[in-house]
Amino acid sequence: MDLDQLNETACAMVAPGKGLLAADESTGTIGKRFASIDLENTADNRRDWREMLFRTEPAMSQYVSGVILYDETIRQKAKDGTPLTKLIEAAGAIPGIKVDTGAKALAGSDGEMITEGLDGLRDRLADYYGLGARFAKWRAVINIGRNGDESMPSQYCINTNMHALARYAALCQEANIVPIVEPEVIMDGDHSIERCYEVTEFALKTLYRELFDQGVILEGTILKPNMVISGTKNDDRASIEEVADMTVQCLANCVPAAVPGIAFLSGGQSDEEATAHLNAINDGYDLPWPVSFSYGRALQHAPLMAWGGQPANVAKAQAAFNHRAKMNSLAALGEYDAAMEKELAGA
Ligand code: 13P
Repeated sequence: MDLDQLNETACAMVAPGKGLLAADESTGTIGKRFASIDLENTADNRRDWREMLFRTEPAMSQYVSGVILYDETIRQKAKDGTPLTKLIEAAGAIPGIKVDTGAKALAGSDGEMITEGLDGLRDRLADYYGLGARFAKWRAVINIGRNGDESMPSQYCINTNMHALARYAALCQEANIVPIVEPEVIMDGDHSIERCYEVTEFALKTLYRELFDQGVILEGTILKPNMVISGTKNDDRASIEEVADMTVQCLANCVPAAVPGIAFLSGGQSDEEATAHLNAINDGYDLPWPVSFSYGRALQHAPLMAWGGQPANVAKAQAAFNHRAKMNSLAALGEYDAAMEKELAGA
């Protein structure tokens, strides 16, 4: 393990004003996104969509530090034969790879999930390193019970998922790949922001205990958490300021200062909500780590709608991606203002 290399990569992933593009949707998940624009889910369409994003400037060289890829994508070539990883590197960004194989039903539990993918992971990581990956992602899924049911998440669900995250992280570091550890407390549900705080705290405290027990070196990791936020079906929605306050309080209580950076997931927030929350977190708090974005939907939704699968719309889609990437870059610096949303060139 080369700790200097790991730490250098982790710091580059959260460089000032930069964050990650999560483009690691499984074939099934991207199929759902394509269905929303009535586009067939073929390997060529997946390539065209992602190639267009990876060729977008200045987004890729100025605002995106790295891209999380899916197994198909890290092996895929652009239309002109250039590997997609080379397009990312040419822009000065770092290729990364999702290595979990998805969340499955947790045995003996009704409605909880366990993330799989540890079998054969050491060999897969060596393969991915050879293909250019310098960081990886593993996402644990933590559901919150409905109607005030506090039995979910169970201790069993938290322990098994955080144990698996630490096993993954240790294997990544052995392979000189920075592990993004992602314990996602899911936003779906009728829970309050206070309940989200409790569950996020439970997950993060357990995660850092497991990382310690398994010898994972925090200086060579990145945390990808959810924000502390009201459930999507809770009518009493917390304000931007409350989300920022409670998220910062929760992270300050759980995440050691040795962690090189935090990059949030968007988790189903609207594009502008995800940006406004990130900005509020970076504006007015004295944080021990850089705090940035690792957004999937909140970066891709606008360009996907602008593209609609039509080659004639590439310029519009790239303008939409440039805009969202720039807004999130400003938010990572605490310099965003909602009035800037009107700047979109050509809109
Ligand atoms: P979202 O930002 O759409 O939640 O995706 C980020 C991600 O990579 C989830 O694992």
